[in-house]
Amino acid sequence: METTLVLCKPDALHRGLVGRVLTRFEEKGFQLVGLKLMTMSRDLAARHYAEHVGKPFYEGLVGFMTASPLVAVAIRGPLAVATVRKMMGKTFGLDAEPGTLRGDFGASKSFNLLHGSDSPESAQRELALFFPEGLQNWVPVGAAWLSAP
Ligand code: RTP
Ligand code: MG
Repeated sequence: METTLVLCKPDALHRGLVGRVLTRFEEKGFQLVGLKLMTMSRDLAARHYAEHVGKPFYEGLVGFMTASPLVAVAIRGPLAVATVRKMMGKTFGLDAEPGTLRGDFGASKSFNLLHGSDSPESAQRELALFFPEGLQNWVPVGAAWLSAP
């Protein structure tokens, strides 16, 4: 079982898509183990996006991510890191396949609705940034039906 970080970015809130995004992950059989409406500080953005510091899009990205609230979500399930990335699709909606979240809901080359951790190591690092208090560990009724091998 893996746990990954999803951020419903400010554009997802402005467009009223958070509920639908969460529904897709719940319908998949994945479990919510952390959920937080918050505004990202510039300090948190700098730590979260440390790998992108200095890239041409960095300042715009941080400005967008810190301008209004986002929803941080910890999602747990089998192979959750890679599976959530597959469900989100390629980085921008025009490149993402139909059927993926970005492919179905986005057509912008700047705003892409979601973040998903790109490896189990990134997930661990990012979950600690957004949920330093820890996650809610609970076992869904019927877990065996949802995630049996
Ligand atoms: P994410 O981290 O948000 O899940 O997305 P990703 O792995 O698909 O993309 P990544 O390369 O990590 O880039 C992080 C975020 O930076 C913005 N970006 N803008 N204008 C550009 O060329 C550009 N490239 C990246 C996007 O918001 C992307 O999600
Ligand atoms: Mg990334």
